[in-house]
Amino acid sequence: MKPETEQEYLLGVNQQELERLQFQHRVWKSVTDNFFDRLNVQRGWNCLDVGGGPGFVAMDLRERVGEKGSVTMLEPSQYYFEWFQRRVEEQQWTNVHAIQGTAETAQLPKEQFDLIFVRWVLSFVPDPELFILSLKKALKSGGRLAIQDYYYEGLSLYPPGAFNTVADIMRAYYRSKGGDAYIAGMIPSLFRKNNIRLLELTPHCLAGGPDSDITEWAGQFFTMHLPIMAEKGVLAREQCDAILADWREHRNSPDMLFISPIVVDIAGVKS
Ligand SMILES: C[S@@+](CC[C@H](N)C(=O)[O-])C[C@H]1O[C@@H](n2cnc3c(N)ncnc32)[C@H](O)[C@@H]1O
Repeated sequence: MKPETEQEYLLGVNQQELERLQFQHRVWKSVTDNFFDRLNVQRGWNCLDVGGGPGFVAMDLRERVGEKGSVTMLEPSQYYFEWFQRRVEEQQWTNVHAIQGTAETAQLPKEQFDLIFVRWVLSFVPDPELFILSLKKALKSGGRLAIQDYYYEGLSLYPPGAFNTVADIMRAYYRSKGGDAYIAGMIPSLFRKNNIRLLELTPHCLAGGPDSDITEWAGQFFTMHLPIMAEKGVLAREQCDAILADWREHRNSPDMLFISPIVVDIAGVKS
């Protein structure tokens, strides 16, 4: 199967999705920052952010590596790639670079990076082993491959209702384009098979009430993407309406609780 391109990418590429990614970055930022702390990202490191979208993580990494380090952002979609390039030019960052392409096909420099970071990308790709092997070549010996992605369990509202069928629908949606919403479960075996030593595997689940950022994060995603999924025939229109009605009802209750799907930090080292 061919790698994802801008046209095929499951969640689409447009300004509304860019703004959703920006808010998502803010909501999950502490999880990613804590991962970078544990990875001990150092000043002077060369880092690659793969499938960086508009590049919010790449911008954070730049602050960590300082002027003597460098950050490269790899992204297939022209829209996000150009948006990021404009930020780099405006800020006159000379140690931040962008490459347009996919992990599987881009001409990446060999044995260049101390850290390669991949957040919410691998679950969309049809051949995760090819993806990981392509990135391994770009890692220095002793360099770290760090991935944050789903083990898509846990997503739910309390008290339970129609919304709690959504995890199944999401897993089917990922599968419909050759992806895997359980990808975090497969990564340790892919590391072992390809001589990447597992350093850590840490699951996260965020939860909150009706006014929390994590509930707003879910609201933005599902009110935007469920109608698109219904249009694509992934679920029936009536099911979509029932789920969104359940969502709105919960949102108006001070006692509701939203539980996120599990996101796992997985890090390995190239020996
Ligand atoms: C959900 S977004 C995540 C963006 C960013 N990593 C973040 O955490 O904010 C997924 C991104 O992966 C990119 N992508 C999809 N397939 C890819 C591939 N094979 N190689 C590199 N990037 C890919 C998409 O274009 C999209 O920008």
